[in-house]
Amino acid sequence: MRSETDVPFEDTPFKVPVSDRVNRLPPYLFGKINKLKYEKRVAGIDVIDLGMGNPTDPPDPLVIEKMNETLKDPRNHRYSVSNGIANLRKEVVKRYWKKYGVRLEPDEEVIACIGSKEGFSHMCLALMGPGDTAIVPSPTFPIHEYAVMLASGNVISIDVRDPDKFLRNVAYTCEHLYPKPKVVIANFPHNPSSTVIEQDFYVELVRLAKKYQFLVISDFAYADICFDGYKAPSFLSTPGAIDVGVEFTTMSKGYSMAGWRIGFCCGNAEMVRALATIKGYYDYGIFQPVQIAAIVAMRECDEAVENVARIYQKRRDALCKGLIRLGWEIEIPKAGMFIWAKIPEPWQKMGSIDFAMKLLDEGGVAVSPGRGFGEDGEGYLRLAIVENEQRLKQAVRQIDRCLKSEEQETPAAT
Ligand SMILES: Cc1ncc(COP(=O)(O)O)c(C=O)c1O
Repeated sequence: MRSETDVPFEDTPFKVPVSDRVNRLPPYLFGKINKLKYEKRVAGIDVIDLGMGNPTDPPDPLVIEKMNETLKDPRNHRYSVSNGIANLRKEVVKRYWKKYGVRLEPDEEVIACIGSKEGFSHMCLALMGPGDTAIVPSPTFPIHEYAVMLASGNVISIDVRDPDKFLRNVAYTCEHLYPKPKVVIANFPHNPSSTVIEQDFYVELVRLAKKYQFLVISDFAYADICFDGYKAPSFLSTPGAIDVGVEFTTMSKGYSMAGWRIGFCCGNAEMVRALATIKGYYDYGIFQPVQIAAIVAMRECDEAVENVARIYQKRRDALCKGLIRLGWEIEIPKAGMFIWAKIPEPWQKMGSIDFAMKLLDEGGVAVSPGRGFGEDGEGYLRLAIVENEQRLKQAVRQIDRCLKSEEQETPAAT
């Protein structure tokens, strides 16, 4: 029987008590911009979308053909194996040997992931727990930070835009922090800042890893997209690297297979085994036709990948040239899919989120605000070179018009 003081349960607000893991995630700073982009699209307004490193070009026709063929085989529709089929792992081994002179063992040192982001996140879960700390490059590709947080670890952000200083700061942190950092995340060519390094960076990183006993996770997502003869070095091609770390690569960027969700983790066998254990519990592997088509891509599409890099180089040139003409301060990237641009002086105070909103709302160009990549990103924008050259030139014209119209409206300073 209900007493007078009882609140009827049907009137009690029902609150879903989500985990601290979810509650402690920081607010999603791209939310406002994504909402406006969506509203514009729904209203039928053309938006030149340079917001995300999401390739607009399809994969090579050979890959699509292979996918179609494998779809017809009834054996390819079952659950696959969670670490990737053997021939796929062998192909990754061949590619590492051919491109970087790295010898890997396909059963122990290679695992396929549902995109490198999934693999990276689960690797953090496999390595870290409460009380563990990871050093994360700053500004930060968001999952580098969030995956550590989701694994209940702590993040130390170190500015990566001066790579020698980054190394000195890693050493300093290891000297002075107790307990010492357990993991250091490397990501070159870097998203969002497009910072690149040479092999000697990794030589020093491996030396520090051995000295201070930390693990290295290298995110090598932009391995295939290099310009002007620059060749991004693989962490794993550094002597001793395999003793201390792993490297993630992906088919999303160079092979334009972002939606297919396929990437790889290679390197230290114990780290690969830890990831395999987590993945063995969580997933049943990548759709088999995707794995088979990825084998064909790696076997047959070297030239297509080189061509993709050339296309991005031309886009880089078109966008950089246009923005420099407008007076923007830009470092021309040697690799990757992004232009990291300083917000011009008159709009610096506005903050990157409001400035990006302005470019979208008034200029019809979507870009990512630097603040979305952490505090060190404030004052910058990240522009992804994912649209074709004509559209990029059009984007520059629209940005110019949008900012000029404001200059004309602004009353002369008194
Ligand atoms: C640095 C970096 N790592 C990983 C990824 C995600 O790659 P994947 O599609 O393989 O999950 C991206 C995508 O933008 C990226 O920029």
